[in-house]
Amino acid sequence: MHGLFVTGTDTGVGKTFVTTGLARLLSDRGFHVGVMKPVETGCHRCGDDLVPADAVQLATAVGGHQKLSSVCLYRFEAPLAPDTAARQEGRSIDPAVILNSFRKIAASHDIVLVEGAGGLLVPIWERYTMADLASDIGFPLLVVAASRLGAVSHTLLTLEYARFRGLPVVAYVLNQLSSGIDAAMSTNADLLARSTEVPCAGVIEWSPTEGNRGAATAASAVSRAISVDGLLSTG
Ligand SMILES: Nc1ncnc2c1ncn2[C@@H]1O[C@H](COP(=O)(O)OP(=O)(O)O)[C@@H](O)[C@H]1O
Ligand SMILES: [Mg+2]
Repeated sequence: MHGLFVTGTDTGVGKTFVTTGLARLLSDRGFHVGVMKPVETGCHRCGDDLVPADAVQLATAVGGHQKLSSVCLYRFEAPLAPDTAARQEGRSIDPAVILNSFRKIAASHDIVLVEGAGGLLVPIWERYTMADLASDIGFPLLVVAASRLGAVSHTLLTLEYARFRGLPVVAYVLNQLSSGIDAAMSTNADLLARSTEVPCAGVIEWSPTEGNRGAATAASAVSRAISVDGLLSTG
């Protein structure tokens, strides 16, 4: 496996949590892991700086050897789709800049994990979407879905669109975003398994202590749910 493009059925479904966990697990196995969150919106302003929380978390998970400026090429304050956030600030996003940086990171690491923003059809710039970026990067997708009512349709829509675009999908993961297990959460995995040939990599449990966004917590939750060996062999 040279890398994964981690996408989701939505924003806030656990892409960063899963990517962080995988990044730490792969680093712990001795791989030199590179990470990217090419475009991050909703960044916190800190003086003159915009802090991309996802990118910081990913960079920390792999030991902090990458410059944040290479992990996250475009940072915006507005919590909006990249195209909209950029326009609001009178800026534009050049996919070629992202791809050039990606190639450098890929050339100097064993494995690269790229986290998208939102889902596959989020516009990055004009008609260029996350799916276009995933296609240009060339890594297979790992689809993260929040395991809640609606997850089945959201997941199948994402998988169907990936198939339509010819984007290979390694697997999807169901991520539990709350502590209680409701009827939808307890039946999503079975219904999805009967509805698609794409494998489920696992069901990630809610981690009550995740408040500190620690990579160790994410790695532990991901390792309980996902076989990293399985991903390494298929990705
Ligand atoms: N399995 C989990 N257990 C506990 N907290 C989680 C879990 N998955 C995600 N979270 C938390 O939920 C929030 C949204 O997840 P995040 O990974 O940031 O989503 P995304 O990257 O898709 O926007 C974050 O605060 C994250 O730490
Ligand atoms: Mg994220």
